[in-house]
Amino acid sequence: MHLLHVVGARPNFMKVAPVIRAFRDRSDIEQTLVHTGQHYDPNLSDIFFEQLEIPRPDVSLEVGSGSHAKQTAEIMIRFEETVLEHKPDWVMVYGDINSTVAAALVAAKLGIKVAHVEAGLRSFDREMPEELNRLVTDQLSDLLLTTSPEAEQNLANEGVPGEKVHFVGNVMIDTVRYLVDKATMPRVPGLDGEYSLLTMHRPSNVDVPETLTRIIAALKDISQQIPIVFPIHPRTKSRIEALDANVLDTPNIIVLEPVGYLESLALQKHAKFVMTDSGGLQEETTALGVPCLTIRENTERPITVTEGTNTLVGTDMDHLRAEVNKILAGDGKAGRIPEKWDGHAAERIVGVLTTV
Ligand code: UD1
Repeated sequence: MHLLHVVGARPNFMKVAPVIRAFRDRSDIEQTLVHTGQHYDPNLSDIFFEQLEIPRPDVSLEVGSGSHAKQTAEIMIRFEETVLEHKPDWVMVYGDINSTVAAALVAAKLGIKVAHVEAGLRSFDREMPEELNRLVTDQLSDLLLTTSPEAEQNLANEGVPGEKVHFVGNVMIDTVRYLVDKATMPRVPGLDGEYSLLTMHRPSNVDVPETLTRIIAALKDISQQIPIVFPIHPRTKSRIEALDANVLDTPNIIVLEPVGYLESLALQKHAKFVMTDSGGLQEETTALGVPCLTIRENTERPITVTEGTNTLVGTDMDHLRAEVNKILAGDGKAGRIPEKWDGHAAERIVGVLTTV
């Protein structure tokens, strides 16, 4: 059996790593890794391959940035040639990025089976580009590998036949468990003692100047109570610079370049709490037992709220301030680890793929 894995951007890399590792010792399975190049900066891509022990891609499509249509189309054009050349039995796609939907569409049209890792997540917010990617990818997939019971329910509601759906657990957490002991703090200039970790890059938070300005004002207030460490995504950096280069200018908000995986894990693990709009950090903080305040109105990962350490604060900054005060008063949310977030999801994926 020949599996062709497709990855493109930072949040894919921690998902593919345990799956490739789990299949590696099977002499009956051939694996090909394709990197679309949606993320191309060394600190958004290369460092993850090294730290996560992912083999060098067999094929690099080098598509780069562009509008959604342009980027998605470019991936499709280049990926079609790759599929025709390699003739895999399965195309494995991960998460919800443009590379995921582009590869799924190409494979499905060529009659090649598609397996979607992290299927069935829904924010029910179609203004989010990732939500459109999730919906389309799941309709095209032959095998839908889910992280949580709600995901199975979402797929059932959309008419996806139950025999295609398998609740395998969360491969991202396989990676957390595999590497947490190797997590290393980056150098954070001026940090001494407790801190909060911030990441933010969703278009809904950073692309509208009024929203971004309001969020930054609240963060400045919070930074007077506890220093904020802020590894900054390139999208956010350019949006903030367009506002006013000095808007973040306070010694208590420590801005870093994007950090590697091991550094991100250490920053989360040692943080008093995390503020984010990332999907991945909502899950990682639940696995690590660190309170997470999510600056979004919705989440496609509700189990992190119902069972984990996550609280949705939306973009209501008074709500954010109130939740921060609760945590600083010693009343942060304690959660439990969701079912099958146990470090063995990739092994269950091997089990499913070798028996379907
Ligand atoms: C993408 C994914 C998102 C994921 C995020 C993680 C989609 C629709 N979005 O969003 O799901 O959470 O990655 O990072 O697929 N840029 C660089 N260097 C790079 C890549 C991008 O400077 O290596 C710049 C681009 O030029 C652009 C901005 O960063 O200005 C945004 O990049 P883009 O890939 O369009 O979307 P993300 O916001 O990163």
